[in-house]
Amino acid sequence: MNITKICCIGAGYVGGPTMAVIAKQCPDIQVTVVDLNESRINKWNDPNVENIPVYEPGLSGIVAEARGRNLFFTTEVDRAIKEADMIFISVNTPTKTYGAGKGQAADLKWIELCARQIARVSTSDKIVVEKSTLPVRTASTLKDILKHTGNNVKFQILSNPEFLAEGTAVDDLLTPDRVLIGGDQDAEGKQAIEALVNIYARWVPKERILTTNVWSSELSKLTANAFLAQRVSSINALSELCEFTEANIGEVARAIGTDSRIGPKFLKASVGFGGSCFQKDILNLVYIARSYGLNEVADYWEQVIIMNDHQKRRFANKIIKTLYNTVNGKKIAFLGWAFKKDTNDTRESAAIYVADHLLYEQAKIAVYDPKVSADQMYADLDYLNTRTVEENQLLVDVVQDPYEACQDAHAVAILTEWDEFKDYDWQKIYDAMLKPAHIFDGRNILDKGQLERIGFKVSAIGS
Ligand code: UDX
Ligand code: ADP
Repeated sequence: MNITKICCIGAGYVGGPTMAVIAKQCPDIQVTVVDLNESRINKWNDPNVENIPVYEPGLSGIVAEARGRNLFFTTEVDRAIKEADMIFISVNTPTKTYGAGKGQAADLKWIELCARQIARVSTSDKIVVEKSTLPVRTASTLKDILKHTGNNVKFQILSNPEFLAEGTAVDDLLTPDRVLIGGDQDAEGKQAIEALVNIYARWVPKERILTTNVWSSELSKLTANAFLAQRVSSINALSELCEFTEANIGEVARAIGTDSRIGPKFLKASVGFGGSCFQKDILNLVYIARSYGLNEVADYWEQVIIMNDHQKRRFANKIIKTLYNTVNGKKIAFLGWAFKKDTNDTRESAAIYVADHLLYEQAKIAVYDPKVSADQMYADLDYLNTRTVEENQLLVDVVQDPYEACQDAHAVAILTEWDEFKDYDWQKIYDAMLKPAHIFDGRNILDKGQLERIGFKVSAIGS
């Protein structure tokens, strides 16, 4: 099966970078990325590639190379579906905010809409690839909808979960640890798997392309994220213990990370993990386990989320407690709003929840983030519905200059580990702050000794 035209539904953080890299590596394949969101598509088509809607190091160069050659962004969803041999589904699958499974199960509304649209417009056989993170057995839902179209078109469903991490998406896509492809194990299923293997094999060594049945592939995605999140919650749990003892979490992480069975990655204590995947995927796992009556399994994984919520709350409380138990009317500078460095994505970012808690105590917050827009920050806070849009506007000031954020502040809180924060003129910041000048380093990126020599009172996670 030779694939010549690919369509990807969803031009977000997953669909955009993934398709850009496929287009770069396969110049003979026409890749069309579609989205209902016209403004998002317009940004992907902006003549200045620096204005594309997803910030990822290296991505704009790839878009510049492939766009207009074999990479296209459009809102003409039906046409792209009709023409394609292979359709990737990369739409959002947020946690349900209503009805059964509210707060835990994934909302599959968008996936189902996609399936129905594919079913409606297709006139030739297609391979449909699940790219979005989905609960186990979503493929059977897709199959069911697609099978009953009644227009004699044959569909093969593959699961090809995305393992890219934001901020390193381009590298992760160009040199992945592995590519996972799940499909039916009959002859036609295997043919479909082979077609997708052949695309990745253009740049990924064959031994790194793993093929499984659909269910293993779907569950592996949730499991990988659950394991990674669990490591962060584990180290964060111990960071609290370190703060009550003479132990230092950085030293503990180094000591255990050198055990080759444990390994050094994902052991950085922080203000809490964020991002669109970790929490959502664990909640999915918890929901699935509970739906089979596996309460101990569900409780076990749920604790990872409970710990993460505790870590965010604990960080906010530490600020309040240190500032003499009141932050009412006090200016607190936030450096960073993104859920991690090198991305403009803010979904589930710890900064949102820490800010919300401090605002509840009537603090005034000035935020600087090198990549996140003010509109996005206000949208994140408004989404929580804790206070009115006007109150958020009044209490939160978004600035373009970090020194302005810190001017006359009682405290500076580091919420994202942007590299540039390390190189600031901290003496200048100290001079402009109210005294005593406090720093709460939620990412352990600053040199505590140097800051203390300047005169700061420093609180870092886990020491
Ligand atoms: C994650 C998975 O890594 C990726 O494979 C999957 O495809 C999508 O979900 P992402 O959410 O983009 O990727 O970022 P990741 O690097 O995993 O970080 C998630 C969160 O954990 C961030 O908020 C990060 O700051 C935090 N984190 C990570 C820590 O607090 N400490 C660590 O040691 C590592
Ligand atoms: P992710 O991080 O998984 O890429 P995003 O929310 O960044 O998630 O992107 C998902 C995109 O999918 C959004 O831009 C949304 O507009 C788009 N989308 C959702 N449903 C459809 C649909 N039925 N047709 C086209 N685009 C869709």
